[in-house]
Amino acid sequence: MKVLVVGSGGREHALVWKISKSDAVSRIYCAPGNGGISAVAECVDIGAEDIKGLLSFAKKEKIDFTVVGPEAPLVAGLVDIFEKEGLKVFGPVSKGAMLEGSKVFSKNFMRKHGIPTADFEVFSAPGKARKYIKRGEFPLVIKADGLAAGKGVFVCSSGPEAEKAIDVIMGKEIFGAAGKEIIIEECLKGEEASILAFCDGDTVLTMDSSQDHKRVFDGDKGPNTGGMGAYSPAPVITGALMEVIEEKILRRTVRGLKKEGIKYKGVIYAGIMVTEKGPMVLEFNVRFGDPETQPLLMRLKTDLLDVMKAVSEEKLDTVKLSWDERSAVCVVMASGGYPGRYGKGFEIKGLGKAAAIDDVFVFHAGTVEKDGKILTDGGRVLGVTALGNSVDKAVDKAYGAVRMIEFKGAFYRKDIGRKALIK
Ligand code: AMP
Ligand code: GLY
Repeated sequence: MKVLVVGSGGREHALVWKISKSDAVSRIYCAPGNGGISAVAECVDIGAEDIKGLLSFAKKEKIDFTVVGPEAPLVAGLVDIFEKEGLKVFGPVSKGAMLEGSKVFSKNFMRKHGIPTADFEVFSAPGKARKYIKRGEFPLVIKADGLAAGKGVFVCSSGPEAEKAIDVIMGKEIFGAAGKEIIIEECLKGEEASILAFCDGDTVLTMDSSQDHKRVFDGDKGPNTGGMGAYSPAPVITGALMEVIEEKILRRTVRGLKKEGIKYKGVIYAGIMVTEKGPMVLEFNVRFGDPETQPLLMRLKTDLLDVMKAVSEEKLDTVKLSWDERSAVCVVMASGGYPGRYGKGFEIKGLGKAAAIDDVFVFHAGTVEKDGKILTDGGRVLGVTALGNSVDKAVDKAYGAVRMIEFKGAFYRKDIGRKALIK
């Protein structure tokens, strides 16, 4: 089979790495890919959001199966367009992708179908929003409706902070049309976890749990990022909690979507807060998480392409997932300045030495290959991922590998996995 993976981050490197192990794969392409992906797949210079360009490539190369990494092309309708042309593709249609593409849609959907989530109000005018926050109940959370690359959420602990968030989203319009409406919601307390599941429209097949580290600095300080590290499994998600999440959140969501005429196929990712009242949904994503995918796929023993094909053919009920019992930890190495401004084009050294360690894989996120050298090319540069018999062993191994890698301005969190260690 000829497979095309769309995207260019650490998640896509993990997808390409795992899919390429399948016996069914004859050739694998990635558009646009990165400096690490080019070692496993043929990178093609087409942007992940250039749906026309991707379609004509897939037709010309007779791609048998396309896997979409990021959310933007899903929301923009890549799957709808590919399917209309008779091409097989993994991911939800654009109506399903609205679960991530519009927080207003997503929150109203959850309210309607009884899916536990924070209480909320929707505002389409800054005046009404400002009046609402005058009630003075803090902390509260303000969110831009549309896609904002993970930057559209503001946890506000005072009136001035909330005023500023409303101004940034609706006044300065820094997210453009994505900020035409906002959600103001109750601030939930607890520990977060990421629960990802495959879904073929009916059957929900849950993956093992994982946990991201969204804030840029140790101890969950500083601004939110795309994710500074992840581990799997997440001990906060006990077997009993997982059952509640599957029944009250994942299956209810898929049944609700079906009722609304949406056959949801692909990965559904529930960002969960484990509160005193039970698990509640912070957000839905309609794709694999980044960096959660790196540790998850290091642990997945089942042939990923087989699972994806079963989703596409609506035969997910015939599949069972099998997991490496060990823990996996991914430490993200980022460019100095991220998630703000940062420099690019610095040579990365020590990759070979780090990769030579048993049970370590260095996934590339923002890298590019030039004249035989690997250079930094993004905010999140690498996801150094290791397996270990326990979380602490996986943590030690991942950090051992991280310390072998150097580039100008490199930084990383030193406490990835600590919450699991405490448990
Ligand atoms: P989201 O993009 O909606 O997942 O939000 C990004 C991050 O903001 C989450 O991972 C949480 O850390 C935080 N967050 C979002 N909504 C809430 C909420 N209702 N209560 C507390 N924290 C939240
Ligand atoms: N790790 C968070 C995300 O993928 O959205």
